[in-house]
Amino acid sequence: MTQSLIDPFQRPISYLRVSVTDRCDFRCVYCMSENMTFLPKKELLTLEELDRMCSTFVRLGVEKLRITGGEPLVRRDIMTFFRRMTRHLDSGALKELTLTTNGSQLERFAGDLYAAGVRRVNVSLDTLDEKKFADVTRWGRLPQVLRGLDAAQAAGLRVKLNAVALKGFNEDELFSMTEWCAERDMDLTWIEVMPMGDIGNEDRLDQYWKLTDLRARLAEQYTVTDLPERTGGPARYVRLEETGQKIGFITPLTHNFCESCNRVRLTCTGELFMCLGQEDNADLRAALRNHPDSDEPLEAAIRAAIALKPKGHDFDYSRQGVDGRVSRHMSHTGG
Ligand code: GTP
Ligand code: 5AD
Ligand code: SF4
Repeated sequence: MTQSLIDPFQRPISYLRVSVTDRCDFRCVYCMSENMTFLPKKELLTLEELDRMCSTFVRLGVEKLRITGGEPLVRRDIMTFFRRMTRHLDSGALKELTLTTNGSQLERFAGDLYAAGVRRVNVSLDTLDEKKFADVTRWGRLPQVLRGLDAAQAAGLRVKLNAVALKGFNEDELFSMTEWCAERDMDLTWIEVMPMGDIGNEDRLDQYWKLTDLRARLAEQYTVTDLPERTGGPARYVRLEETGQKIGFITPLTHNFCESCNRVRLTCTGELFMCLGQEDNADLRAALRNHPDSDEPLEAAIRAAIALKPKGHDFDYSRQGVDGRVSRHMSHTGG
């Protein structure tokens, strides 16, 4: 039997996030600058190579695969890749195949995703106000995303919204977004903004809305109960007793969750990042391309990379400045 992947801190690595493109049809202000340079297409792993990479990880014990980007659904022919991954669900090796998307293409793809075995999608949505949505995404239009959400639910997909908590931007929508999700039976998770990538004017501290504050605001109107459950992700959940709904908090800044990290990230060029908040990475593309007939060198490269997984990120805003920043954009590593 092949040995599963365990990092130096005894954390089993069972979750792979794969960014299939660095491109996106939006330009969210906290994620990208207005003028981004994207990778030339020839740098990208082909769909066949992505299949070989992911299948190798599955053989090494990865049970959860999340497809990200950029915006994963703008990658050409990406449904072929999803359909190829279905075989790992069918064999039982993979427990979950899912994606994180901005929702812009869901109207088109929700049915195909369900047919490929996807049962849950995480959709990034920071506001329900059309004007604010256009401002924060620069290129996005809210009605298109709302149609995507409807299509996802109609296709049978469970929807979770991820909202980046942004001071002075969506603070005033805390209750309206909560109610909107309750009415539609969608889950909602809030994320603290992380210092990743040069986004033009570096105003992370102005954007930063602590989730400890957000939670206190929720508690003014609802009875907030901590839930013990974990999805294997960094989110911690509470239940609002009055509505029965679940709200998640992803708090890289106010509460570090790295001790239970179970994931690594593959970029669209085949670099493996062992932590979202560190620069360490390993080039898996060479191991893959230089050995078309054997996966052994790739397996060895993966094991060697996992042996170098850092303990956690160093993001910190507590000293009136931004510490632990990483230069990569979120769209490079896939969130
Ligand atoms: P679930 O399967 O629903 O639990 O999803 P998830 O939380 O693993 O994935 P999702 O794509 O919804 O993650 C939401 C966001 O949380 C990401 O885009 C990141 O901003 C942040 N996040 C996820 N994993 C990590 C992590 O390992 N470290 C840090 N610092 N942030 C993370
Ligand atoms: N900090 C926190 N979350 C971010 N995202 C993009 N950039 C940042 C950042 N700097 C989120 C998106 C999406 C996910 C992929 O990452 O809103 O939910
Ligand atoms: Fe695109 Fe997501 Fe980045 Fe927004 S946050 S620009 S939707 S990759």
